[in-house]
Amino acid sequence: MEIDLSVSWLGLSMASPLFNASGVMCRHADELDRLAASCAGAVITKSCTLEPRAGNPEPRYAALPFGSINSMGLPNEGFRYYLDYARRYDYGRGKPLFVSVSGMSADETLTILGELARLDLPCLPEVNLSCPNVPGKPQTGYDFAASAALLDAIVRIYPKTFGVKLPPYFDPVHFDMMADVLRAYPTLGFVTCINSIGNALVVDVERELALIRPKDGLGGLGGSYVLPTALANVREFARRLPDRHVVGCGGVTSGAEAFMHILCGATVVQIGTCLYEEGPGAFERIAAELSALMRSKGYRTLDAFRGRLGTP
Ligand code: SIN
Repeated sequence: MEIDLSVSWLGLSMASPLFNASGVMCRHADELDRLAASCAGAVITKSCTLEPRAGNPEPRYAALPFGSINSMGLPNEGFRYYLDYARRYDYGRGKPLFVSVSGMSADETLTILGELARLDLPCLPEVNLSCPNVPGKPQTGYDFAASAALLDAIVRIYPKTFGVKLPPYFDPVHFDMMADVLRAYPTLGFVTCINSIGNALVVDVERELALIRPKDGLGGLGGSYVLPTALANVREFARRLPDRHVVGCGGVTSGAEAFMHILCGATVVQIGTCLYEEGPGAFERIAAELSALMRSKGYRTLDAFRGRLGTP
């Protein structure tokens, strides 16, 4: 049976549902080019701010037995760099480009989106409401009123389709509250679930030290540790926002987890920690594993099982 991993969504076509999570292999143009040349189905940039940022002091990333912890602090080249990249990007290759935006303030985010609107490029913004790693700056996605105020302003300045990257939520009341906020914006085309589980602390017993330096060791947890939380968020937002797309992110290390995300309702799936550790060959491997799993189950397309998770 010929397996078809292609996805059509938001007017975009992707040959594979897999692409990078913002933050991994996407700060510099050469990394973005390597992603575009890989088996990834799309490419997303590092979250950009108005001005370039060096990010937090090192060590700011550590691999863990089942994932990673990071407090990168939004190191990026500034939004002009990514908009230049988006201007040069070869959209004809059939790999959509997403530009992640994470202003240091609402005004910064609006300035960046205003410029994106003016340029009218075929890329789509993913507005990051959930970076846990800038000291003193709370995650917007945990403040429902602030999220609504920002989205009100975004849709005034940015008339085209966009998405948001959400932090993980842990209570059905909060799924409801955020879904109620998001539902009000018809041009919100997708929600990415989830960013890292923020402000975790990993301890090195021998050295009696936190593993990373910023924020006294607090950082975002990613990889297999976060898979169940990511799946819950994907399923809960897919249920609450049936006319929007959910982008699954968190804990994908093989075709099985990609399958789980799609079974929970994800349209496409981002890969973070695994890509960081393995490099872009992960896209080919995971796509092959996903195809093999689908073949063994008799599913030819992703639509055949997307959102079909049952309960025993
Ligand atoms: C970072 O740069 O600190 C990570 C970005 C994020 O988690 O949104």
